[in-house]
Amino acid sequence: MNYVDYAAIVLDLVLRATNRHIKTKVLSLEHLEPAAVLLSREFCKNEPLCRVLGLNEADVLPFFRDQVRHIAQQGLGIVAVDRGGALQGVLTVEDHMQQFEPPEEGLPEGLSIIGAYLESMQVPDHFLPKKAGEVCYIGLASVAKGRRNRQVLSMMMLASHRMLPPLGYVRGYAKVTNPGIIKRFQRLERIARGPVFISVLTAKPKDFVYKGYRPFADYDGETSVFTWTALGAGRSAK
Ligand SMILES: CC(C)(COP(=O)(O)OP(=O)(O)OC[C@H]1O[C@@H](n2cnc3c(N)ncnc32)[C@H](O)[C@@H]1OP(=O)(O)O)[C@@H](O)C(=O)NCCC(=O)NCCS
Repeated sequence: MNYVDYAAIVLDLVLRATNRHIKTKVLSLEHLEPAAVLLSREFCKNEPLCRVLGLNEADVLPFFRDQVRHIAQQGLGIVAVDRGGALQGVLTVEDHMQQFEPPEEGLPEGLSIIGAYLESMQVPDHFLPKKAGEVCYIGLASVAKGRRNRQVLSMMMLASHRMLPPLGYVRGYAKVTNPGIIKRFQRLERIARGPVFISVLTAKPKDFVYKGYRPFADYDGETSVFTWTALGAGRSAK
């Protein structure tokens, strides 16, 4: 076992022991409504692209509900639940070959724009699988605000890394639009003492053209595609 795998296992144990008020679980249909509500609220308030477009929680809720239902049916997503049973975090994980397809009709314009932008951020061909069951895509991550929740994202990521390799998922990727996620990646990498999340593409939303105009023209941030190799799967594949 290499050092990164060892560090991940130790960190997973330490976080579970020191955050006993939080348990991670596989996202299932019983979490559908609270997960959709948490995603709608946190994305509209704190995710940069949703904020720039001024998306509204009530408008995006049906979309997140459909997406969470799809994730729950695949059984690869993770939630974090506190002692009282309240949902504190959601991580949507899908098979790359079986991704959620939003309905073409009835989607709020802002979500169509963000969908088109994410589509433009392509994952390199060499990374992609030829069949289902190999590469997972983390589409959405959200944590309810609160000091006691500072480790929740890391706990959900480690839970997902514990669960996925035995199912055959050797690699994963995410399209990261929030710099807060990159801070969390960097925190994990400090513990791993080296790179784990490889940025394979960086783009500026303000350069993106949608139907002849630039919907993110006033936003100066960057977005990135990150890839990683699952625990125990050998770190040479990017
Ligand atoms: C991203 C997210 C899951 C991280 O949750 P978390 O681990 O609890 O961490 P925080 O929200 O405290 O954010 C972590 C760090 O990123 C920063 N950050 C959070 N959102 C940010 C934003 N929109 N722009 C810049 N920095 C941001 C925080 O200030 C914090 O910095 P610090 O560690 O120096 O204090 C959470 O902020 C969230 O749910 N955001 C809304 C949904 C979202 O954007 N999801 C990711 C899409 S790629």
